[in-house]
Order: sequence, then C-alpha cells, then structure tokens
Amino acid sequence: MAVYLDNNATTALSEKVLEAMLPYMGQVTGNPSSVHRFGRLQKDAIEQARESVARLAGARAEQVVFTSGGTESNNLLLSGFCQKSKDARIAVSAVEHMSLLEPAQYLQPAADIIPVDANGRVNVAQLKQVVNEQTSLVSVMSANNETGVIQDLAPLIDFATEQGCFFHSDASQAAGKIALNFVESGLHAMTISAHKLYGPVGVGALILDKRLPMSKIQFGGSQEKNLRAGTENVPAIVGFGRAAELALAELQSTATHVRSLRDALEAGLKKFSSISIFAEQAERLPNTVQFGIEGFDGETMLMQLDRKAIAVSSGSACTSGKTEPSHVLKAMEVVDMLANSAIRVSFGKNNTMSDVEKLLTALTDIIEINQQSSVMMAATV
Ligand SMILES: Cc1ncc(COP(=O)(O)O)c(C=O)c1O
Repeated sequence: MAVYLDNNATTALSEKVLEAMLPYMGQVTGNPSSVHRFGRLQKDAIEQARESVARLAGARAEQVVFTSGGTESNNLLLSGFCQKSKDARIAVSAVEHMSLLEPAQYLQPAADIIPVDANGRVNVAQLKQVVNEQTSLVSVMSANNETGVIQDLAPLIDFATEQGCFFHSDASQAAGKIALNFVESGLHAMTISAHKLYGPVGVGALILDKRLPMSKIQFGGSQEKNLRAGTENVPAIVGFGRAAELALAELQSTATHVRSLRDALEAGLKKFSSISIFAEQAERLPNTVQFGIEGFDGETMLMQLDRKAIAVSSGSACTSGKTEPSHVLKAMEVVDMLANSAIRVSFGKNNTMSDVEKLLTALTDIIEINQQSSVMMAATV
C-alpha cells in the first residue's frame, strides 16, 4: 500500500464529510437565492455550515464569507481591501504562501516584505522595520505550510493595531491543527481552506471583521454579503461545515496522534548524519517536519521515495516543479545547497507508526545506495 505523507498539500476527504455532501449532489435541488422551499433548504444548509466554520475559527457566523478556497480568500482580502482604500499600503511576511505574496506584489509592485528570523518567525522588531505611517494592512500567516512554524501573532497584532493597521492572517494550515480564536485574537481577517482539514477541494472562507474596509471584486450577484457574486457551491459548503465540526471535535486527539508520529520520525532522522531539521527550535504544527540532507537533491529524493510508493513534498506543493530553493527557506537564510535538499513530511489522522517506519527504512536504503555509489566512484577515479 502506498504511503501518503503530504497532508499539508491536501487531505483525503473524510467519509463522514462525503456522507453529508451526497444529498446535496442530486437528491436536494434548488438555488439558495430562490425564495421557494427548494431554495430555502439550500440556504439553510449554507447557514448551518457557516455556524460550524465560525465555531472552528472562533468567529461569529456573520463574519464568515464562503469562497472557493485559500487562494481566493487571500486574493479577495488583498484586492477587496486595496479597492476600497485607494491609498492602502500593505506589509506581508516573507514566508507567506504564494496565493498571498503574488497578489500583494501585483497590487503593490514594491510590496513591503516583513523579514523573518532563522526559525521563520516574525517578531515585533522586524515588523517595526517595515510598518510605517502609510501602512494600512499587515498580513502574517498563522502557520507555515512548509516548515509548520506557528507565528506568535498576539504581539504583532497589538503593535500593528496600535499603529492603526488592520491585520490579516492566513490560517489555511493552522485550521484543524491548532485552536483558533478569531474574535479574541483581535484579527480583522482570516483565511481558511476546507481541503486542508479533510473537507472538499474548492471551498474555503474569508473571515472578516466588519471594521475592515472591503469591496467586492467579482460582480453579478449579492451572494455572501455582497462580497462574492455567484451561485454558491452548496455541496462543498455543506462538506466544509461538516469537516469543520469534525476538526473541532477531534482537534486534541488528532494533534496528539500526529505529534507522536512526527516525534518518532524526527528521532529516527537524527540517526542519519548530515540531517538538518528546519525551524527545529520554533513552535511548529504537530504534523509537520521539513528537513534537508546534505548532498541530496530534494526533487530527486522525492522521486526516489515515490518509486518506493511513499509520497512526500520537496517544499510547498504549489511551488514544486520549480527547481530554485523555496522562498520560505531563503527568507530563513538557509544556504541554497541545504534548501535544495528540503523534504517536507506532513502527517494526517490516517497515518500510522508503520508509515513512519516505512519512510525511515526507505530513506536508509536511498542514503546507503548513494554512499556506496560515491565510494565506488571515488575508487575508480
Ligand atoms: C498557507 C496556505 N495558504 C493558502 C493555500 C491555498 O489554499 P487553496 O488550495 O484552498 O487555494 C495553501 C495551500 O497549499 C496554503 O498552504
């Protein structure tokens, strides 16, 4: 059986989620904007899902705007904000997902980039370097998709709001893995994606505090509080709601399970010489480890593991295919050679200790074969 260790890229749709979605994929019809009973049934289903997603985010239901996923939420936030506040100046962290960095750089070509420390964390001193009187919006993610590093947002939010800035956080990787509390945090906006928490692909949410100036960027309907025109994808939204309920109910048990797998893997990895675990000293998501092995190329290692039916990532799934080192590791000032060897393992609730053992055995085989061929090469020179 193939071993899937790439849960930060996407998770398997939960059977319970699929069960909740199925009636809305055929049996129950109607457009949620229609006022008749068929429409009302769809609308009720959306509102129920909104409550569930709000509970997971620690938000109020009326703060949840459904979108097509994390990418759209990040784009809507930045474009909608900049459209509303014409002289907006935004500052974003250097380790954001491309779905945040790219629109930021598009909207503001010389975007203000907040540096991170060697462990990938933003601190207030770094924020102070970038935020000035023109800055109106700051965006720092809750947890990084590659390294798993969790940002200590509270002091950053305090500082930014004292300066009169709004604060957004991309919680696509954090949601379902660590507790979130949108209302208490003081955030003005937050991004979530359903397929990172055993929900369907193609649905997410932008959680919005009504103080944040926002404009719609898609026209043709007044759905989703007039912020996202278009007939709602009801089965996906229902699935998202169910996934959010399950994620909240299982938050502790899933975290304990994946942490035990991650810790076992890290203990095993430390037996290899020349392994570096990135951001090891930082607080990280319980399911994620990113490491580099000196002398190995991450993409090649990924393919060698794939031949052994083990799926990992050599960085963020959205940027793999590119050969340059990940922008996240670059921002952490990891040297290119080591950054190019990066492998990310992200556990999910369906993984077992036997998956860890299979990965460690496969890595041992690959490293030994490589060492033997280097010895043979040296002997023939
Ligand atoms: C931190 C982060 N933000 C945003 C996204 C994009 O989410 P989606 O795939 O739902 O568009 C991802 C996906 O990898 C992510 O990891």
